[in-house]
Amino acid sequence: MTHQDPTRLSADDWDELNFPRPEEQDFDRVVERALSRRGFLGRVLAFGSGAAAMGSGLTGGLLGSTSAAAQQASRFAFTPIPIATDGTVHVPEGYDWQVLVRWGDPLFSDAAGDFDTTPGGSTAMSDRIFGENTDGMEFFTVGSRQVIAVNHEYTNRKVNLPAEQEGVPASAADVLKLQNLQGVTVMEVREGDQGWEVVVDSPLNRRITHNTPMEIRGPAAGHDLLKTAADPTGTRSLGTMNNCGAGKTPWGTYLTCEENFNGYFGSTEEIQDQKPNALVEGYARYGIGPKGWGYDYHKWDARFDTDKNPNEPHRVGYVVEIDPAAPDSTPVKHTALGRIKHENAEVALAPDGRVVVYMGDDERGEYLYKWVSRDIYVPGGDTSTLLEEGTLYAAKFNDDLSGQWLALTPETTGMDAAHIAIFTRMAASAVGATTMDRPEWVATSPVAAEAYCCLTNNKNRGLKPNAGGDDTAPNGPNPREANRYGQIVRWRPAGDDHAAEAFTWDLYVMAGNPGVHAGTPYAGSANINPGNLFNSPDGMAIDSSGLVWIQTDGNDGNDGDFAGMGNNQMLAGDPVSGEIHRFLTGPNGSEITGLCWSADLRTMFVGIQHPDAPFPDGEGKLPRSSIVAIKRADNAMIG
Ligand code: FEO
Ligand code: CA
Ligand code: CA
Repeated sequence: MTHQDPTRLSADDWDELNFPRPEEQDFDRVVERALSRRGFLGRVLAFGSGAAAMGSGLTGGLLGSTSAAAQQASRFAFTPIPIATDGTVHVPEGYDWQVLVRWGDPLFSDAAGDFDTTPGGSTAMSDRIFGENTDGMEFFTVGSRQVIAVNHEYTNRKVNLPAEQEGVPASAADVLKLQNLQGVTVMEVREGDQGWEVVVDSPLNRRITHNTPMEIRGPAAGHDLLKTAADPTGTRSLGTMNNCGAGKTPWGTYLTCEENFNGYFGSTEEIQDQKPNALVEGYARYGIGPKGWGYDYHKWDARFDTDKNPNEPHRVGYVVEIDPAAPDSTPVKHTALGRIKHENAEVALAPDGRVVVYMGDDERGEYLYKWVSRDIYVPGGDTSTLLEEGTLYAAKFNDDLSGQWLALTPETTGMDAAHIAIFTRMAASAVGATTMDRPEWVATSPVAAEAYCCLTNNKNRGLKPNAGGDDTAPNGPNPREANRYGQIVRWRPAGDDHAAEAFTWDLYVMAGNPGVHAGTPYAGSANINPGNLFNSPDGMAIDSSGLVWIQTDGNDGNDGDFAGMGNNQMLAGDPVSGEIHRFLTGPNGSEITGLCWSADLRTMFVGIQHPDAPFPDGEGKLPRSSIVAIKRADNAMIG
């Protein structure tokens, strides 16, 4: 999320407000930084010329062996569109969009008519409607039914509590409403004569909120750090929170990823400043502070009061598995996949059938991870160990375009398995993984053994260490100091095996602005031009043909460094030529996030999160986060 309204600060800016990172004031460090800046410029140019020898500009480093199938993806089926600065959605000529569902739309008929487009809806019905701030989503076929599971990342208090001053919760009912508007929706959808719609009252419809019972599994389950007065076993928690990106397993379950969970916690104890409670291990690294981010749960719901329940934050920050075919099933928190600010969980299968899950930790200077299962996936077989028994790794990128996945084990980290699962950031620091520019979504290609990760931006790169004190000098895949534009790193695993520990990498694109920063690395890579300017790549998915769909969550001020970029957008990239074309623009203030396709690939579902404009209902109405369904007018496949 990125906002300019001070009551709607971005997650990272909230973190920085609560936990200002130490400035690098030591004189030697300043000199080193000044020197490294010179080196940095030279290194970027060296990368560019090195890559040019293999392909085209900064793109192409891995392309010599890209499969023939991937090369067929180099044709775009649409005419790129210009930027937009208005209040609605635009797609190319020959394509149409419609709203599938908006915040407040009923999932069950008892909630029909509850939501009003000016004051919103009631607390009583707040877990019977489609929640707020749609994010990652996946499409499932369950028997003859079509189902979308989708995240509701956070709430905009001023929009969701319009009756309260500045949207500050004034009662336990206000807090319950916010809790109910977040989490996950599972909903049946169908396409009829009027287009796509939610099947109200489907037996598969389900809301999962901040209060839904969860089972905790993996190495941290039952550990003392996870025990609370309400759950002395440390194996049962309530709710999944700040659900950002998502994933889908080969066995048909949905993975929802807990990102900025820290913001929900606060302390009612009188505290004079914003320093975290240093007595609680991990609070500072994970940004858990006494004031929270303004949700004010802790003032009305003691579970979120860290003075009373200091272990509750240890029970969030995981990947959670949900079975969309079993509406009464208990979601499972998989601690083996680590506790970080999880962005998404991109699942791939190794050639031998082991399950690989790529995961980013979206915080400045944190790390990129992957999980490799011990056992193999067998269709129809037992899948119960696949997200519990295995190895977690953090990525190390070398400047020579090689890289290694560093195993996080008791031997390599000096931490036991439970501590690795709960304090994963410290484990990755211990092995010397590469600090990244806020890893967002990872996507793997279905037509080539390649993976991509959006590194959205990092204004602290080269200027401040991460919260663990790890150095963040510019490095190979994060080469620009004070990186405000973002880039996409791509890697190819050794032997075309996603379970391999070695890989090679390149930069697929460095976003930038050649009109403002010509001749510097901030102009962006060779595949950036005046027709496709964007900043802050975030959501990403690769379609069945290999095209890379890129969604943005950035500065939409359209001036200064960001002139010519317009509102947030979705673009498509050719993995071979590096060409990138703009496909969709969103309404003012919105982030484009969440992408999946219908089973027949004739519809693409795209999420429009936190519009400022009164989208989609028009002037005088509340802005409503929405999923739009996009089709070609000729009903041809679009993915
Ligand atoms: Fe929820 Fe990192 O975006
Ligand atoms: Ca983002
Ligand atoms: Ca995101």
